[in-house]
Amino acid sequence: MSLQKAVIAKLGEYQIRRCEKDDIPSVIEVNMNTLPEHYSDYFYYEILSEFPETFLVAELKGVLVGYIMCRIEYGFSQLKRLALARKGHVVSVAVEESHRNRGIGTALILSSHGEMIKKSATECYLEVRVSNAQAVALYQKIGYKITGRLEAYYRDGEGALVMAYQIGK
Ligand code: ACO
Ligand code: ZN
Repeated sequence: MSLQKAVIAKLGEYQIRRCEKDDIPSVIEVNMNTLPEHYSDYFYYEILSEFPETFLVAELKGVLVGYIMCRIEYGFSQLKRLALARKGHVVSVAVEESHRNRGIGTALILSSHGEMIKKSATECYLEVRVSNAQAVALYQKIGYKITGRLEAYYRDGEGALVMAYQIGK
């Protein structure tokens, strides 16, 4: 029996694979280092147990350098008026600063889309700080469109852009 973890994508020496329970402390560390939005430890384990297929990590030689965690939801489409849709929701994505601009963020997002499609999602959406120009540019490059704006969405009063992208038929 092989202990090799299933690789979803490769980017040079980086590997994208599913998150496992043992990875959560490192995921939390990446989150602490990169984002002002923090969650309880329980929240990470809960998302992992409910949505294991779309909780992915980026690893370089055994060191975790990025993650994406998502939910699959059912509700009103962000893209088609008054239609219902199964939607992937990117709850949080981050890459350690020293590993950025190498395509890892893109690879994490595209890999999560692939897993969302397998779960029958037809679109993906997320919220992002209005001031987070780098992330907004990256989402737009992938094809995400701004579909809404939530005033005072974050605890410090900053607003969020809602961005969405059609991933399946
Ligand atoms: N070689 C060189 N550059 C590349 C490559 C490549 N192979 N692939 C992509 N790039 C460029 C992209 O074109 C992009 O350039 P651009 O800014 O001109 O558009 C840039 O690198 C960034 O793309 P990636 O490398 O794919 O993304 P990165 O790994 O740097 O991660 C992220 C992006 C996750 C937003 C990172 O900046 C980060 O962690 N920021 C802090 C946390 C954060 O803000 N997260 C998002 C919050 S919103 C939410 O979570 C829903
Ligand atoms: Zn969200």
